[in-house]
Amino acid sequence: MGEKVWIFDTTLRDGEQSPGFSMNIEEKIRMATQLAKLNVDVIEAGFPIASEGDFEAVKAVAQAVKGPVIAGLARVPKIDIDRAWEAVRHAERPRIHVFVATSDIHLEYKLRKSREEILQQSIEAVRYAKSLCDDIEYSPEDASRSDVAFLIKLIEAVIEAGATTVNIPDTVGYATPQEYGQLIRTLRDKVPNIGRARISVHCHNDLGLAVANSLAGVENGARQVECTINGIGERAGNAALEEVVMALRTRKDYYQHYTDIVTEEIYKTSRLLSHITGIKVQPNKAIVGDNAFAHEAGIHQDGVLKKAITYEIMTPQSIGLPRNRLVLGKHSGRHAFSKRLQELGYELTREEINKAFVRFKNLADKKKEIYDEDLQAIVEEELSTIPETFELDYLQTTTGNHTLPTATVRLRKGELLVQDAAIGDGPVDATYQAIDRITGIPGKLLEYSIRAVTEGKDAIGEVVVKVQFNGEVITGRGTSTDVIEASAKAYLNAVNKVAYRQGRYREAKS
Ligand code: KIV
Ligand code: ZN
Repeated sequence: MGEKVWIFDTTLRDGEQSPGFSMNIEEKIRMATQLAKLNVDVIEAGFPIASEGDFEAVKAVAQAVKGPVIAGLARVPKIDIDRAWEAVRHAERPRIHVFVATSDIHLEYKLRKSREEILQQSIEAVRYAKSLCDDIEYSPEDASRSDVAFLIKLIEAVIEAGATTVNIPDTVGYATPQEYGQLIRTLRDKVPNIGRARISVHCHNDLGLAVANSLAGVENGARQVECTINGIGERAGNAALEEVVMALRTRKDYYQHYTDIVTEEIYKTSRLLSHITGIKVQPNKAIVGDNAFAHEAGIHQDGVLKKAITYEIMTPQSIGLPRNRLVLGKHSGRHAFSKRLQELGYELTREEINKAFVRFKNLADKKKEIYDEDLQAIVEEELSTIPETFELDYLQTTTGNHTLPTATVRLRKGELLVQDAAIGDGPVDATYQAIDRITGIPGKLLEYSIRAVTEGKDAIGEVVVKVQFNGEVITGRGTSTDVIEASAKAYLNAVNKVAYRQGRYREAKS
């Protein structure tokens, strides 16, 4: 049967720290809850010393999410370790992950320290972390460019000091699979006490080798893989969780080992991340791209129809892709609606179904055929945990090639209705200016994208915006069959996230 390979998900730490992927606390909890359903072994929830927001998010995930180990990252100073412990200590199974750079390049140019100093700092840090928490991971950053003899000595010492996992990062994605596999094998063979710790791999994708390197690590003795959903992460990203897991599963005959991942949750997890961050997966992305299971060529289609194995090495169902596309319409009842949501993987309360059903009926009045993607858009909007401090009540825009674009907007805030108008560079700009005037929370629009959720003239338009408020970038999303309305909703969604946070801050202070 082989041995278990632990899956350490760092979507919320290494993934989140790359530009465009930042998430707020509620989004992190939602993502972490889904990662727990996916049954990952470890969730690295953030880097608590990095900011107040990071600390609060790690703490909130540690308190809310049950099942996986919850890890917090720390550099070697005590203050970092204390902060990480403070954030993860409420978890059912907490872990402190300590790291320090070990390559001569980093020592000379970044840290200006000797190898001996780094060795001593590492031992002290791990010993201190161990006095707080049983489960300690240690990472020598830039390990793949570090001196191997030094690494052997260092790893023996940190295991002696209490590390239970030793992670070997290919921080800059420089290694080749053979070199990296050999490094893992050398550490496994030469570190005398290695049997007391789990070897972990952490590979970046700068040369597109992150997954290949991670698998080479597993072949040579690693039993934990650090990875992210959709392969997001610093620069070119980290090893993609879905690719590592499906490679181990599909080629079990070759790798022999297994993971505990519920692979049927992969598709949903991938889509949830895209939904939260507003960044879509490329269509040809392995496992989770839109085309990953689409057979276009006639010969392929013919083959698959005769016997799927001709061109399919794994089934769409194994990653949780809905089996077929069911079309609903205005005559579809609540039962068909809620059954389809279940098939799409949503477990909703009766109240959530009722609310989503109202949205469904409204949409069905405007759009003849409602596809799975429409349903997902409806439910995702309904599941948004951000209260609508400002709700769009009325919107009218005037535009044309000889007209000054003007927007009149009325927003509901509790019992209050507030209306204003503005002119702008176009109807969307005018709408956003009017919203700014009403809310008093002005934002700077950085990115705007629009796509049709399904095909057809009556398709739902989904707008995703990235808006800067006081230096922080917030993602907003809105859907409607009217693109200006979708634009207004997306912007308001971002504004509501800020309003919610300001409200929470005021509550915490009072
Ligand atoms: O890439 C890296 O070296 C890291 C460490 C902090 C594990 O992310
Ligand atoms: Zn990394």
